Amino acid sequence: MSGVEELIERAARDLASSSYAIALTGAGISTDSGIPDFRGPNGIWTKNPEAEKRAYETYFRFLRDPAQYWHDRLTMGTSLLGNLQEAKPNPAHYALAELEKMGIIKSVLTQNIDGLHEKAGSQRVFEYHGSIYKLRCPSCGCRFRYEEYDLKGLLAEGKLPPRCRECSSPIKDDVVHFNEPIPADVAHASLEEAHRCDLMLICGTSAVVYPFAELPRVARYRRAGSRLFSLEQEKRTVIIEVNAEPTPLTREGISDYLIQGRLAEVLPQIVERVKKLRSQ
Ligand code: OAD
Repeated sequence: MSGVEELIERAARDLASSSYAIALTGAGISTDSGIPDFRGPNGIWTKNPEAEKRAYETYFRFLRDPAQYWHDRLTMGTSLLGNLQEAKPNPAHYALAELEKMGIIKSVLTQNIDGLHEKAGSQRVFEYHGSIYKLRCPSCGCRFRYEEYDLKGLLAEGKLPPRCRECSSPIKDDVVHFNEPIPADVAHASLEEAHRCDLMLICGTSAVVYPFAELPRVARYRRAGSRLFSLEQEKRTVIIEVNAEPTPLTREGISDYLIQGRLAEVLPQIVERVKKLRSQ
């Protein structure tokens, strides 16, 4: 067995013996669906650092002038990520959905806005940085489908910005921009999952954007809490990374091990090994 094969076997055994496994995903899981990542060798920010600097301004532009923000969005060119609506899930997304169907993975916490986990069949998905398919009211937190608003009509009639149907505040797309708070519902749910899990499978993230990158640390350092006074010893959370390159989580020893490789190849192999283990 090669080093990678041994680690795939180890990950399969760890998953099979876990009782509450969760997956954390980043842009690296969608590169094989034709969507560029941000900080890999061909990443959007790697190739265009100026665009990253501009991205830090987007949320402030919305706060300053939501009508102008929407006008720009509806009249200016396409997204830096390309046409996300047309992208299809790849074997890595399907592998996570299959692990959920097998009852092993209990949720997917993703930084991706592309909706590909749901398209692949994952049921319990927390979209930490939002979704391209939704609109959200930053004031009351309500979300809406894009189809519920005639944005082009509002633009033509000079009635931008779109307003929340619950509280009348200007709404924005659900996608979370730099400097924007993570929506409270998804932030709380993700934190709970990170506290609860006994295995975290981290896929395709450079783990440098906070607060998402805090979640593996929460899982690593969580304390026994109410179990302090119980005789039961809390098991250490197993943290596995699958990534093309080492990350701060690898270097700081937050993850137990890194399976260095391509997600669309590694994750399906893990699923196959888990199935074999279960049939033994
Ligand atoms: P990054 O681009 O920072 O990291 C993606 C990681 O996946 C890199 O380490 C790549 O080497 C690795 N990778 C790429 N393709 C892979 C493949 N096929 N198999 C295995 N590994 C692969 O993306 P994120 O960590 O998701 O935020 O970035 C986090 C946030 O930064 C994004 O959500 C976005 C961005 O700015 C906002 O827009 C707020």
